Amino acid sequence: GGKRLRPVLSLAVCDMLDGNVEEVLPFACAVEMIHTYSLIHDDLPAMDNDDFRRGRPTNHKVYGEALAILAGDGLLNLAFETMLESIIKSGDKEQAARAAGVIATASGSKGMISGQVIDLESEGKQVDTDILNRMHRFKTGALIKAPVVSAAILCKAEADDIEKLDSFAENLGLAFQIKDDILDVEGNTEKLGKKVGSDADNNKSTYVSLYGLERSKEILSDVTKKAIASLEKFGEKAVFLKSLADYLLVREN
Ligand code: IPE
Ligand code: IPE
Ligand code: MG
Ligand code: MG
Ligand code: MG
Repeated sequence: GGKRLRPVLSLAVCDMLDGNVEEVLPFACAVEMIHTYSLIHDDLPAMDNDDFRRGRPTNHKVYGEALAILAGDGLLNLAFETMLESIIKSGDKEQAARAAGVIATASGSKGMISGQVIDLESEGKQVDTDILNRMHRFKTGALIKAPVVSAAILCKAEADDIEKLDSFAENLGLAFQIKDDILDVEGNTEKLGKKVGSDADNNKSTYVSLYGLERSKEILSDVTKKAIASLEKFGEKAVFLKSLADYLLVREN
């Protein structure tokens, strides 16, 4: 289930840069495995305590907490098994290892995990803009940037192209979490496939709790424009990525 946005981003970058999809696909799947593990753990009672995900009862609701923890652990390991298998087969092992390194760092305690730590420590507090942006950049942005940058590396993109894509994904990741915060307030549980109001129940610090709905929507639109502007140099070839960014503004799940 799920939108599979992260692997779609990898494949779209590969397409734009005329890369080899066979080379990119295992890394794209690895990111989705890590993302899915992060959601299973995010829903646990010790974290956000959510009962509903992707339109179904959460993993721990069906299988119990112990198995949900292990399912997450299993997916995380499977991601690295998948990448290592691909590195061994790759014609350019150093490049493949560099792509795996980008994904490893983005998922770890300098990436997604640190964002989740800030998220939990910010419950019930009024945090400032800096902390909020750092939290969003790490908990969500890191795993949106990783599939974009790792795919660019695997497609042998030149340094300037990687820089532009990095900036695109940085802003797209922030926009994605701002929209997630907005949907948690004004979304529809059926369409979203997860419970609306979870953030308020947990006293989370979010874009909406800091800026309110209207200002959050303005910032969302500005940040999305910035993301799209980073793709200028790719011209017509970036049409899919640009429309994807625009679609994420109006997404309902
Ligand atoms: C949800 O991610 C968690 C966030 C990082 C905001 P997605 O909205 O991509 O969830 P799925 O994979 O489509 O279920
Ligand atoms: C989750 O943020 C980010 C990660 C899982 C890393 P949220 O807690 O806002 O995601 P949802 O709303 O439960 O999908
Ligand atoms: Mg959370
Ligand atoms: Mg959550
Ligand atoms: Mg959320």
